[in-house]
Amino acid sequence: MAKAKLQFICQNCGAASPRWQGRCESCGEWNTLVEENAAGGIGGGPARSGRKGRVVPLEPLHGESAEAPRVPTGIAELDRVTGGGFVRGSALLVGGDPGIGKSTLLLQASAALAERGQRVIYISGEEAVAQVRLRAERMGVARAPVALAAETSVEDILTTLEAGPRPALVIVDSVQTLWTEQADSAPGTVTQVRASAQAMIRYAKQSGATVVLVGHVTKDGQIAGPRVVEHMVDAVLYFEGEGGHHFRILRAVKNRFGATDEIGVFEMTGSGLREVPNPSELFLGERNASSPGAAVFAGMEGTRPVLVEIQALVAPSPLGTPRRAVVGWDSGRLAMVIAVLESHCGVRLGPNDVYLAVAGGLKIAEPAADLAVAAALVSSLSGIALPADCVYFGEVSLSGAVRPVVHAAQRLKEAQKLGFARAVLPAASMDKTTNADPGSQGISQLAELVASIAA
Ligand code: TYD
Ligand code: MG
Repeated sequence: MAKAKLQFICQNCGAASPRWQGRCESCGEWNTLVEENAAGGIGGGPARSGRKGRVVPLEPLHGESAEAPRVPTGIAELDRVTGGGFVRGSALLVGGDPGIGKSTLLLQASAALAERGQRVIYISGEEAVAQVRLRAERMGVARAPVALAAETSVEDILTTLEAGPRPALVIVDSVQTLWTEQADSAPGTVTQVRASAQAMIRYAKQSGATVVLVGHVTKDGQIAGPRVVEHMVDAVLYFEGEGGHHFRILRAVKNRFGATDEIGVFEMTGSGLREVPNPSELFLGERNASSPGAAVFAGMEGTRPVLVEIQALVAPSPLGTPRRAVVGWDSGRLAMVIAVLESHCGVRLGPNDVYLAVAGGLKIAEPAADLAVAAALVSSLSGIALPADCVYFGEVSLSGAVRPVVHAAQRLKEAQKLGFARAVLPAASMDKTTNADPGSQGISQLAELVASIAA
């Protein structure tokens, strides 16, 4: 047998290094390098000669559909994020912090699909069958015809799967508990996780079943992070939530068969996850409209308008270098808005601490939030509360101009639906209807917003 070749593999990003180092050169994480056996690992068998493959034309053959065949779960918030349901023969990774609700979500999806007559197999490597049953009972889905298995060996799993009728959906909870004889390293290492995931993905492609791999995201490098699996699968969904909140947000960060800007919103209840079809109501739920520093942003999450409160606190700083702290938005973007307010609108934020938070644990990536952020900052600094029935959206450029944003009509419609009578928006986003509406104020310079708050 060939002499075992040792390598050090980063458990965070999967990069290999010939010697041990305290810090991974590839991703910069500390203490993530673990010694693993490279030779005899994946593909370590004797070399085989190539076999003739088959090439097919790009255009769909007669009778084949160009549309990916999908299996919708009926859970609208989940189907929205996957792009209309699970794609047959594809592999998904569902990542998230431990305890966030991944197992709960997938058991609910399994039950929903099984109720629709699809064959679903839920393989749990973390919990015993009795524990999964107990959870199903708590969620009121114990009667759904889901097939359960507590298994961690990839070879055993594949044999079991191939023995029965072809399933539509296979859940593997979690990928970190899997191990395969194909790799020599200890279970939980990057080599094992990667080889096991590869085997499950190959099964998905061959059988036409959808395989969902659950992965824990851990800060420390003890368990191989799902990062290494991310580029192997067709879609990566992250399940997120803020500590102390019951909201959970499902977000696609990669999707070969759909958009990545859609979110699904859920609420964790005593009996499983509840869908939140109208997130605006949720994010505005605990609003105290009369306090200065709060502005309602009319945003878009994918194809859906979402209203959310942006809160700012501007307070004199005891420090030489004032603090800037942001939750749910980009800190670079905040610095830019502050700089534009200072240099073009005469607003002096300089010596103050500035705190900015997006309510409800939502993370906003849209530049259209600039105007709402500016309004919240000016309101907090001046101590003047913004009108309770007003929403804000618009992108601010470095010159202090307010630039148009997409979907203005949809944002306004959502605001109207929730009882907002006024809006401050880019003048260039105004159209015939908004021009006729006395509640809509189109502005082309950020200074106009500042003037209207002080007035
Ligand atoms: P879980 O799905 O086990 O998380 P993960 O698989 O991501 O580690 O969810 C665990 C948490 O959810 C746990 O703290 C209990 C809570 N929970 C509820 O509040 N209600 C429920 O109906 C269920 C099943 C769990
Ligand atoms: Mg779990």
